[in-house]
Amino acid sequence: MTNMILLKIGGSVLTDKSRESTLREDNLRMVARQIADAKSSRLILVHGAGSFGHPQVVKYLSKGLSASGMWRTHCAVRSLNTAFIDELQSQSAAALPIHPLNNVTLDAGRITHFDTNALELMLNNNIIPVLHGDVVMDRLDGFNVLSGDQIVAFLALKMRPKKVGVGTDVDGIMYQNRKLNHLNPGELEKYRDGILGSRSTDVTGGMLHKVVELLEIAKSGIQSEVFNAAYDGNITKFLTSHQDLGTTISTEKE
Ligand SMILES: Nc1ncnc2c1ncn2[C@@H]1O[C@H](COP(=O)(O)OP(=O)(O)O)[C@@H](O)[C@H]1O
Ligand SMILES: [Mg+2]
Repeated sequence: MTNMILLKIGGSVLTDKSRESTLREDNLRMVARQIADAKSSRLILVHGAGSFGHPQVVKYLSKGLSASGMWRTHCAVRSLNTAFIDELQSQSAAALPIHPLNNVTLDAGRITHFDTNALELMLNNNIIPVLHGDVVMDRLDGFNVLSGDQIVAFLALKMRPKKVGVGTDVDGIMYQNRKLNHLNPGELEKYRDGILGSRSTDVTGGMLHKVVELLEIAKSGIQSEVFNAAYDGNITKFLTSHQDLGTTISTEKE
């Protein structure tokens, strides 16, 4: 589907990752406003869990599968999803949730089944599906944490959108205090020592995990852009222009 756009908004943008279950309300409004104003057709949104998921996994799920731990964690991230959709709807963006707990299963942490029927019907009806990082059932491990980043990679391969954006709280992929304008799969080893986890609690692995997921889809010909979505105006630019905003990940040599 060539005219589709896939955009992830990091938990780092929508939440205060240093304080459990705390919204960054100004950012929530700023992000929703840009999405509503852009009026992009065929937009899929994914958001991370931020402090509405990572601390809960550590607290409630460190001993393995537990329905009550999954419920508490899922409810936390679901409340972030509800707050985001409420804000989108109040700014007249037609958005509806899709909860991975009910639509996705994993094998050892990797997606094996993903029911995208509702998502496709939403797109056909000009509704923005809003997915999120979640706890989901895993055939081998009982359960696992599914990152928003893996959801992006999976949907990018399945739906082949024309643009893939990963908004986070930094300007792009940094190496030795400089932003990389471009990264291709062959360069990961060169920069690996400087691409790390998150500075906050992030059970899915911070920037390194993001980069690994995005380099993998680059190998299948899908380019993506990691950019600072906490900076007002960048989401508008991503949705409406062809400007490079942060770090472009593709197989191209710079
Ligand atoms: N080389 C790097 N470039 C940029 N960010 C990095 C790098 N290495 C580690 N990070 C960390 O990764 C974080 C982004 O990942 P994460 O916290 O998981 O964001 P999100 O909530 O958007 O998924 C940054 O805030 C930064 O602390
Ligand atoms: Mg993350």
